[in-house]
Amino acid sequence: MQAQSILTEKDTLPAINIKRLEKRFGNNYAVAGVDMDVPPGAFLVLLGPSGCGKTTILRMLAGLEEPTSGEIHFGDQQIASGTSGIIVSPGDRDAGMVFQSYALWPHKTVQENVEWPLKIKQWSPDERRERVKEVLELLSIGDLAARYPGEISGGQQQRVAIARTIAPKPKVLLFDEPLSNLDAKLRAEMRTELLRIHRLTGATSVYVTHDQVEAMTMASHVAVMNHGKVEQFGPPRTLYESPATRFVATFVGTPPANLVHAQIEDDRYLYKQIDLGPARPSSTDTPCWLMYRAEALKLCQTADERRIAVTFAEGTPVAGRFIITVWDERQRISVVMDHLPEAQLGDQLYLEFPEHPTMVYED
Ligand SMILES: Nc1ncnc2c1ncn2[C@@H]1O[C@H](COP(=O)(O)OP(=O)(O)OP(=O)(O)O)[C@@H](O)[C@H]1O
Ligand SMILES: [Mg+2]
Repeated sequence: MQAQSILTEKDTLPAINIKRLEKRFGNNYAVAGVDMDVPPGAFLVLLGPSGCGKTTILRMLAGLEEPTSGEIHFGDQQIASGTSGIIVSPGDRDAGMVFQSYALWPHKTVQENVEWPLKIKQWSPDERRERVKEVLELLSIGDLAARYPGEISGGQQQRVAIARTIAPKPKVLLFDEPLSNLDAKLRAEMRTELLRIHRLTGATSVYVTHDQVEAMTMASHVAVMNHGKVEQFGPPRTLYESPATRFVATFVGTPPANLVHAQIEDDRYLYKQIDLGPARPSSTDTPCWLMYRAEALKLCQTADERRIAVTFAEGTPVAGRFIITVWDERQRISVVMDHLPEAQLGDQLYLEFPEHPTMVYED
């Protein structure tokens, strides 16, 4: 109670508030009505397939694109409104953006590249020198200060781009697939590095990716997008454990969740004559989709009245376990097991379902 009363209204405001945001290009909606409250200090990941509108949202946050309708606030400041036409220019938003292609100035040294935004903001030479030294050290590239972008590696260039963006201490950091040009090992390293920087700067970050592993490992919050809309917004764990839609279930998780199209008979779910548990009372009698994570299914060598026959298609080792893929007619199903099954590719195996599905989707 006491703690609440000493908070001012400003402290409790979301760092970023997005209301009914839309962006239309010609007749197409790139962003088709998005609402979101991002708490201060959050690491929000926008996750979704190519063309779903992630970059367009980020560009509207940065001020590089104007909304067709809807509003964006940073704290108590309205920075864009499609309705009233208010648009705060990118330089006045206290936001920094890191792109997939780093676009460093080729004729400026690392030092000069990072110093550039501070010059624009008219920091004094002493302040600039100190801050550049600080951020180069933060990104472990202090020894590259005198080099030109052409004289350092791709991974180092990306570090310089990040250093340049965080140098003026923006309140909001925007990242558009910043690691996709790096090889797998560097990507993993930079993920950890970015999270460390995020903790140290305290900036609210919005990070775009279509790599769901990146999303699940980095995010405090994830917004899963599809066709210009947010299908679900929440902590990664909630998305994994209770995906709100069929799309989220099949997009999030490695391997993605399995869906089985079941009939309803006598208030029970039925798939290939197997009873898959009591149907939800609210259900109509139209078939629906039952969701099972790969860990919830069991693969057996022998037939049983609770098992369906499937064909062994693939076994992939992952962190000491195996992801087994089987065909249920023309549908792929994934199962996680401790051992490879004793079978050849193409052999028949038997799949056993748990008593209840994890989630049920009616459409
Ligand atoms: N300037 C533009 N003019 C016309 N259409 C555009 C423009 N920018 C984006 N679009 C369209 O808007 C939709 C969303 O694009 P956006 O770049 O936001 O997708 P994305 O989610 O970032 O995709 P990716 O993962 O491929 O980068 C796409 O259909 C795209 O073709
Ligand atoms: Mg994009």
